Amino acid sequence: MNKGKLLQDKQIIIRPATADDSAAILLWRNDPVTRENSLTTEPVSKDDHDKWFSSTLQRKDRVIYIADVSFTSNQHDSCGMCRFDISQDGKSAIVSINLNPKYRGEGLSLSILELSINAFVQEFQGITSLDAEIRDSNLPSIHIFTKAGFTKKDVDSEVGHYSLSVN
Ligand SMILES: CC(C)(COP(=O)(O)OP(=O)(O)OC[C@H]1O[C@@H](n2cnc3c(N)ncnc32)[C@H](O)[C@@H]1OP(=O)(O)O)[C@@H](O)C(=O)NCCC(=O)NCCS
Repeated sequence: MNKGKLLQDKQIIIRPATADDSAAILLWRNDPVTRENSLTTEPVSKDDHDKWFSSTLQRKDRVIYIADVSFTSNQHDSCGMCRFDISQDGKSAIVSINLNPKYRGEGLSLSILELSINAFVQEFQGITSLDAEIRDSNLPSIHIFTKAGFTKKDVDSEVGHYSLSVN
């Protein structure tokens, strides 16, 4: 049985990120595939990340959820994150997803995206739409956002703008 099959029935729990997630988030951010698909492709230094992450945890307009996958009742691992940047008027948010590289290609990303969106729109009931900016070359990401109900609005220099109405 392959790892994908083994992961199929495992439970994914979504929870808000804490200071303990900082190192993992930096590692996932600096992974080459993440950088290639990000809007800013330069690696992030630990100093810059530490400042950005501690301010993120204080901010009311940015939320990061961590997805934990459990294998047994006492064994779990963080397999990805979803980030939501809320607009100034509080009515929309930009969503992005990044998986722990060791859990990519296992078919977990759609569940992580949908569970995170559910958690976010329940917590922030004034949100009426979600947006995503995805490189045209990032086919797995386009695939999962489309499956989650996002539709393409337009394209701006190789980056597609997608949106979903919620609440
Ligand atoms: C994008 C990302 C979240 C996808 O997660 P993943 O674990 O690699 O992908 P999954 O195994 O969950 O598969 C996602 C879907 O894309 C499909 N897919 C994979 N490669 C594809 C390709 N080249 N063309 C079309 N669809 C593709 C898969 O078949 C699957 O669809 P299915 O379940 O209907 O079969 C992950 O690769 C990642 O973290 N990438 C780096 C960060 C990033 O690009 N974030 C997106 C910016 S918003």
